[in-house]
Amino acid sequence: MPVITEIADLKRIYERRVPRMFYDYCESGSWTEQTFRDNSSDFDDIRLRQRVAVDMSGRSTKSQMIGQDVAMPVALAPVGMTGMQHADGEIKAARAAEAFGVPFTLSTMSINSIEDVAEATTAPFWFQLYTMRDTDYVSRLIQRAKDAKCSALVITLDLQILGQRHKDLKNGLSAPPKLTPKTIANLATKWAWGLEMLGAKRREFGNIVGHVQGLSDTSQLSAWTAEQFDPTLDWNKVAKLKEEWGGKVILKGILDAEDAKMALKVGADAIVVSNHGGRQLDGALSSIRALPSILDAVGDQVEVHLDSGIRSGQDVLKAVAMGAKGTFIGRAFIYGLGAMGQKGVTTALEVIQREMDITMALCGETNVANLGRHNLLIPEDFAGRWQDGH
Ligand SMILES: Cc1cc2nc3c(=O)[nH]c(=O)nc-3n(C[C@H](O)[C@H](O)[C@H](O)COP(=O)(O)O)c2cc1C
Repeated sequence: MPVITEIADLKRIYERRVPRMFYDYCESGSWTEQTFRDNSSDFDDIRLRQRVAVDMSGRSTKSQMIGQDVAMPVALAPVGMTGMQHADGEIKAARAAEAFGVPFTLSTMSINSIEDVAEATTAPFWFQLYTMRDTDYVSRLIQRAKDAKCSALVITLDLQILGQRHKDLKNGLSAPPKLTPKTIANLATKWAWGLEMLGAKRREFGNIVGHVQGLSDTSQLSAWTAEQFDPTLDWNKVAKLKEEWGGKVILKGILDAEDAKMALKVGADAIVVSNHGGRQLDGALSSIRALPSILDAVGDQVEVHLDSGIRSGQDVLKAVAMGAKGTFIGRAFIYGLGAMGQKGVTTALEVIQREMDITMALCGETNVANLGRHNLLIPEDFAGRWQDGH
């Protein structure tokens, strides 16, 4: 067994194990991938204040997100096609999250369905909604999430239209993969993945196939998105969805203080400062750089979470010390899942928790609630030298 000490170790195994098409799908940003790169490298610009001779016994990474107890302020982000990264991927990731004590978020574009995950877990999970033109379908989806006792609806606002990721188009990304000479040649080197996939509960989009009539082709995410996603989604519709759901709502994909104020107006329980992991608007600010202005605008009135670029417990700590109440990880858990299934997700969570715990101790803190900007060294121009155009 390889010794796993950091998320990058899982990524190396993941790359070897999973078909190129799905590795590339995960490891892409849109267009030039500038925002994708900035998301991680901007964390490096923030340094930590080391403190000494502080009693560091009795430390805890425990916290709360939207009033739920969490083992650390980290949730698993909604990731489409997780069940293509590993057979029954959503079920395995949800089980790992439940055992660890962090929230799991199921994507609308998952392979395992809402019902599959509900059946395989006991802790309530969160459901991420993409809004579609077919409002009856959306209502049924919301009802299915209610029936499954999901404890929050995460409405993603930054993907009414799909950002272009070059590799997905070149690879002909689909679920299940279409058998072309190129994919066959690649799949032949991924036999362990393939063998497990033969026994998988599903290999198609589980929340869609069998639930929508008159579909042309559900296997291609890009075609489905262009055809079905609702380009007219606006704040009025968000407010209506919130009402229809009736429970806790998290609005994901906020990157601008003005939008954060709108989210507050519609009564979000939390917002996620996110640029979709650099997969949508290339050239947008990294999430960690956008965070301070959003906290200044709404931080005392709504719970603010952050995702995009987190690859370590130090990144989590930096976001939380900056003022985020919680974080989401996307690729960091997908690397673990692709590398070694449920155990890999658990390992990813353990790595992040260990890093967070040790960092907290060396910063002279014993409790997540006490973390603050006093723990950070933030460059004077961290917010950027931009003129905001107003
Ligand atoms: C392969 C992949 C698929 C994703 N699919 C979805 C999705 O279906 N719904 C959604 O709201 N966000 C989706 N996201 C975005 C994640 O929820 C999250 O915002 C992002 O992964 C955070 O960045 P990170 O991967 O750097 O942690 C996806 C991200 C990746 C990498």
